[in-house]
Amino acid sequence: MAEINDKNIPQKKVVYSALKPTGDLQLGNYIGAVKNMVKLQDEYNCIYTIADMHSITVENVPADLRRRTYDFMALFLAVGLDPEKSILFVQSHVPQHAELAWVLNCYTQFGEASRMTQFKEKSAKNPENVNLGLFAYPTLMAADILLYQADLVPIGKDQKQHLELARDIAHRFNTVYSPTFVVPDGIFSKHGAKIYNLLDPTSKMGKTDDNTNGVVFLLDDADTIMRKFKRAVTDCDTDIRFDESKPGISNLITIYSVVSDKTVEAVEKEFEGVSYADFKLKVGEAVVEYLKPIQAKYNELINNKDYLLEVMRNGAERASRIANKTLSKVYRKVGFVQLP
Ligand code: TYM
Repeated sequence: MAEINDKNIPQKKVVYSALKPTGDLQLGNYIGAVKNMVKLQDEYNCIYTIADMHSITVENVPADLRRRTYDFMALFLAVGLDPEKSILFVQSHVPQHAELAWVLNCYTQFGEASRMTQFKEKSAKNPENVNLGLFAYPTLMAADILLYQADLVPIGKDQKQHLELARDIAHRFNTVYSPTFVVPDGIFSKHGAKIYNLLDPTSKMGKTDDNTNGVVFLLDDADTIMRKFKRAVTDCDTDIRFDESKPGISNLITIYSVVSDKTVEAVEKEFEGVSYADFKLKVGEAVVEYLKPIQAKYNELINNKDYLLEVMRNGAERASRIANKTLSKVYRKVGFVQLP
């Protein structure tokens, strides 16, 4: 991949995204974001981060965070993110993220940050730990994106509000000073921008959901996956049809359509007249088959810590070079003295 520098202005647009290692990766992350991240690698300059600094905005066990950071990198590689094509790194290894976040905090209003739905939900869920980091989560996320002058950000629907705030901040900074940041656009899956919990198909499937029986983790074994799909909540109708009034079945249709690479219409046709019970089995089996090669690759990689560290180090060095350019520009514009 071409490095972005003054002599070699990038021909391709820049894509940026990140996942935070709070809880294990689940099918919603994969379908909503990761699958697109993999696809975009051939066409764009992609930069993908494990957002460990975002993880500490909620209570967490240090040993788990460390283990998951390796896990996420092994899974990044197992799903097909390629360190030869894309820059893959860990957020805390590139200090410019925290540095730019501080500046952006000073260009974000208290009222704007207070309106973030995720902040309201998380603080309501954990009233004993409403820390400043949780409040400033979206400005760190804005810093992640803006540091790399990203044009496109593949994310699930739940991150749309945060992306809009990043756009607002970029626009404001560009207006107060002079054009500094690219104002990024989101990329959302047509279907699957929001995958729902199998046991509660009106709420998002999440890594840290209380009811893990409704969450399919990428590293779940075949029996666990089948058990979760067999228990999936549907409705009292019999039609396998995508319809807003049938959230359970629609969610299963979306999942099947993604893992079988078929359109929603083709899936509806394929399962015409089939019972819900049989459909659930088929979706479970398709997911098991889909995840098999990913899990095999993950198992190969996870014990090779040296290689994972090498990917992290190499990615951080490349990311840092790009991040530094943006940060120096920002520091200059806000009036910080630069040492010669
Ligand atoms: P995180 O780790 O919660 O989620 C990672 C990605 O997965 C998407 N996602 C879903 N998509 C569809 N259905 C679901 N049930 C589902 N659950 C999660 C999320 O939308 C996200 O795209 N704040 C981010 C991490 C982040 C980031 C960034 C993302 C930090 N800095 C800069 C983009 C750009 C987050 O919470 O991800």
